[in-house]
Amino acid sequence: MQQAGLSDRVRVQVGDYHQLPFADQIFDVVICIETVFHSYNPQQLFQEIYRVLRPGGKLYIREYFVIESPLSEQQQQDLEKFQQIAAGGQFRRMSELTEIASTAGFQELQTSNMTGIIPSDSLRMAILSTEFPNLPLFLGDIKAIKPTASGQTSADSSQYQQTVADYYDHKAGVESELTGLTGSSNLFLAYRAGIQPGDYVLDVGCGVGQAAVDIAQSLCRPSS
Ligand SMILES: C[S@@+](CC[C@H](N)C(=O)[O-])C[C@H]1O[C@@H](n2cnc3c(N)ncnc32)[C@H](O)[C@@H]1O
Repeated sequence: MQQAGLSDRVRVQVGDYHQLPFADQIFDVVICIETVFHSYNPQQLFQEIYRVLRPGGKLYIREYFVIESPLSEQQQQDLEKFQQIAAGGQFRRMSELTEIASTAGFQELQTSNMTGIIPSDSLRMAILSTEFPNLPLFLGDIKAIKPTASGQTSADSSQYQQTVADYYDHKAGVESELTGLTGSSNLFLAYRAGIQPGDYVLDVGCGVGQAAVDIAQSLCRPSS
């Protein structure tokens, strides 16, 4: 963060995301990028995320999901083999995670299949298909809102989110366009998640924090 000149605005915190070391209701947006499959207790994870989000705050999950239809024997075998090499994670169906998110209190859930939209995903799936020809996974995302006390979501955030969804959800290949424009594919992620300049964002399961660095550099410049 120091090297990137971001130590005043990006902080990395080590811990187990099932017990987030943060006060209640402080974040505007929580993003989870390809990490929920590691969760040993997604109910607890989503409750924790709900707790630290402010009312009207947004949850954005990008993840590999198991297809909804029943799996063939070959698909089940490929999934199990792949889960072993994926650090013992457990991939889940989108419907399972949206149900857990709803139970935690999230509303306005929107799901999208991102197949063919993210170039790095297309490449990854093409490489994996040689060893796992029946891998029943696809890249998707889930967006959700923590309701306010009155049960309403903030008009501003949902309007922004809808504009972004309308524009980006129907434009395959948009990531490459944005990459060309901004030099950062994580800006696409920020748009999908509805992050706005000034938002206080928690990147749950951030790894080395590259998404936070890219987003902070491109979206969160200090106003001069
Ligand atoms: C596939 S990596 C994704 C990293 C990052 N989100 C990205 O998109 O580059 C999965 C990450 O989840 C983190 N992770 C797994 N279980 C976790 C837990 N219980 N608490 C916090 N982080 C966890 C791992 O440390 C790893 O960095």
